[in-house]
Amino acid sequence: MPKDTLTIRDNRTGKTYEIPIQDESIRAMDLRQIKSAEGDFGIVTYDPALLNTAVCRSSITFIDGDKSVLNYRGYPIEQLAEQSNFLEVAYLIVNGNLPSPKQYMKWESEITHHTMVHENVKKFMDGFWHDAHPMGILVGTVGALSTFYPGAKDIFNPDCRRRQSHRLIAKMPTLAAFAYRHSCGMPYAYPDNDLSYAGNFLNMMFKMTEVKYKPDPVLEKAIDVLFILHADHEQNCSTSAMRVVGSSQVDPFSAMAAAVAALYGPLHGGANEEVLKMLGEIGSVSKVPEFIKKVKNGEGRLMGFGHRVYKSYDPRARIIKHMAEQVFDVQGSSPMLEVARELERIALQDDYFVTRRLYPNIDFYSGLIYQSMGFPTSMYPVLFAIPRTAGWIAQWEELILDPEQKISRPRQLYSGAARREYVPLAQRAGARTPADSPRPG
Ligand code: SDX
Repeated sequence: MPKDTLTIRDNRTGKTYEIPIQDESIRAMDLRQIKSAEGDFGIVTYDPALLNTAVCRSSITFIDGDKSVLNYRGYPIEQLAEQSNFLEVAYLIVNGNLPSPKQYMKWESEITHHTMVHENVKKFMDGFWHDAHPMGILVGTVGALSTFYPGAKDIFNPDCRRRQSHRLIAKMPTLAAFAYRHSCGMPYAYPDNDLSYAGNFLNMMFKMTEVKYKPDPVLEKAIDVLFILHADHEQNCSTSAMRVVGSSQVDPFSAMAAAVAALYGPLHGGANEEVLKMLGEIGSVSKVPEFIKKVKNGEGRLMGFGHRVYKSYDPRARIIKHMAEQVFDVQGSSPMLEVARELERIALQDDYFVTRRLYPNIDFYSGLIYQSMGFPTSMYPVLFAIPRTAGWIAQWEELILDPEQKISRPRQLYSGAARREYVPLAQRAGARTPADSPRPG
């Protein structure tokens, strides 16, 4: 029976090493014993962007990128999207199992009764310019919440972690909606505890002068399913930010401000906003071939396509595409939908995209739904951040409780200057001499 080891021969020394293989991986620290001379630091792994490096063990989300599989705590995303709701999925992701009816009622009550934010939040929200990007506002306000809950620093107290989890999941829609209302000069609409999580978010976003906002059930369901689809996605960029910052043992609000900032990027959660800009720039189906040609010439990217893990159709994109039809039945279709469909049709058969295994990802169709629901494009990444809060919290707590984890501090391969001696300014090449500067007077 072959041993679960790698035998590595260092040809510099002729020595061989047996490196244990566990879970299809080797420990990078096992390579440190490989030295070319006594006193060497030993071999490190070099993996820019961590393309092939596992940084943790996690039991939250499983993705099989070749088979379009996405499971939250073992449950297929298709079944959760079809049969569950976001609050129940958030419970599953944070707690590890589906709740009993009693657990669900308690969880729902806890979240519902933490949706309000301190009135002072409005004061610094008002300080942002009217056209401040809501993701910039969110980065600031999520971090600022840490100052309202100094007790959140007690991160090894499970009750404290649970309370902060409730606060973050509950208050993100409020912060998001307040940022939107600020940007359009509207008064803030307060939470309505009679409404569902998604319904209350729509209420805080779009309530006008009516006494009680009544969300459209189709739109409320669409938002709830979109929240389910965005809830977690294992070690993506923003979750990695949450884990790296959280590893310093800072409070979860401050760690999550870093996660929101990472999600803001156009290659990550900002892609849904970029997709709508791209569709608008293309403008019509007739212009699609010309745009595809530019992408293939390396002039820009087909936003909403491609994924570090999915080398097949993103299962979430498939569900969203189906959902889009239902929303457009209510809200009317979008001219951009035809452009998006033509882009997908061409890209899925074009060798440039096929050979690079580029398929639509979660961001390709989601923006079209948000647009049809009346959200401005700048709110699209915010609509990603709200549900991803559940994933960020679960991943953060897993980090805190993982005995193998410690403060994150990667190595580097130094490529800078060797030691050199300081040269005073007056002695450096090109230094001005007294002759250069004529005497005053
Ligand atoms: C999300 O990690 C997650 O799980 C993220 C996410 C989550 O739920 O958290 O799923 C959410 O962020 C989805 C991705 C949203 N981003 C976009 O849609 C932006 C457009 N996509 C790309 O920028 C890109 O595909 C990434 C960033 C998503 C993935 O990048 P990789 O894995 O680093 O791939 P790469 O940049 O090395 O590209 C490999 C090749 C390159 O071509 P060559 O240099 O080999 O010739 O594919 C090309 C790239 O140029 N390529 C694209 C492309 N994406 C990759 N070419 C055109 N259009 C694209 N979209």
